[in-house]
Amino acid sequence: KLLLFGRILRFVVDNLPVMSICGAAPLNTRSDTRIVGGQEAAAGAWPWQAQLVIQGGLCGGSLINSQWVLSAAHCFKSTSGVTVYLGLQSLTSSANVVSRSAAQIIVHPDYNSNTNDNDVALVQLFSAVTFTNYVRPVCLAADGSVFPSGLDCWVTGWGTLSYEEVLPPGRETLQEVDVPIVSNSQCSASYSTLTNNMLCAGLTNGGKDSCQGDSGGPLVTKNGTVWVQAGVVSYGNGCAQPGYPGVYARISNYQTWINSQVSGEQPGYISFQGAAAAARPLAASLLAVPTLSLALLLS
Ligand SMILES: *[C@@H]1O[C@H](CO)[C@@H](O)[C@H](O)[C@H]1NC(C)=O
Repeated sequence: KLLLFGRILRFVVDNLPVMSICGAAPLNTRSDTRIVGGQEAAAGAWPWQAQLVIQGGLCGGSLINSQWVLSAAHCFKSTSGVTVYLGLQSLTSSANVVSRSAAQIIVHPDYNSNTNDNDVALVQLFSAVTFTNYVRPVCLAADGSVFPSGLDCWVTGWGTLSYEEVLPPGRETLQEVDVPIVSNSQCSASYSTLTNNMLCAGLTNGGKDSCQGDSGGPLVTKNGTVWVQAGVVSYGNGCAQPGYPGVYARISNYQTWINSQVSGEQPGYISFQGAAAAARPLAASLLAVPTLSLALLLS
């Protein structure tokens, strides 16, 4: 009887919609203590992280269901010959890696290359991938989600400076860095063309570290055991420049658009309602990491 129950449970678990399995990272074993600074990510720590090879250039992306990857519109000056790698941790190892060519790339129709407004794109994989501990979808922030100033988030990538740049030496391992959210009102002092479709994160005092993450990659935060994507790496003014946080496409503004484009099973959405009072004060994170740079990506 127990065996039968186990089998039924297994069947149910295996067939749960992506909604209930998104955002889990079984191999992300970090404790809740804050780890500052760019550092190498452990294998499987960010199982939705994708690397997109685009005519010799590179971008990041995130797996949102078994056949679609979310990335940035500005990555696709060319939409032909795109290959997506998942489960990749070190560029020197093919363990756990799955690759697919892109069947379709959908750049947001209102993407504005002058202002970077609506800097989101969807990549359909040629065929679905099977989820493993190294390849799993992230949850997306649902319409109306709130990411208050000071909230701790993580950005991941291989540290390329732009989608056309080759990887700098020593950057063959996925990098991770945590950065606090910066309010749009504060961030618009740095970027005059900031819109409500954008979200900022970073340390406002700059620093000496090099760029972390890469364009199109995910900015995520955690609620309990579930990781939720808040942003897509979009642009910034240089790297580690004081007063210039990184700018991300605000994912919660695109739930309707993403659902209208993604065929088959829908991505999982989580309504993230961060209360400003519960967030880590930005000043405290600045004090904690005087030498850290924040620096995200840009192109
Ligand atoms: C985290 O999840 C719990 C349980 O679903 C929910 O009550 C809470 O509001 C969530 N927190 C945020 C910041 O969204």
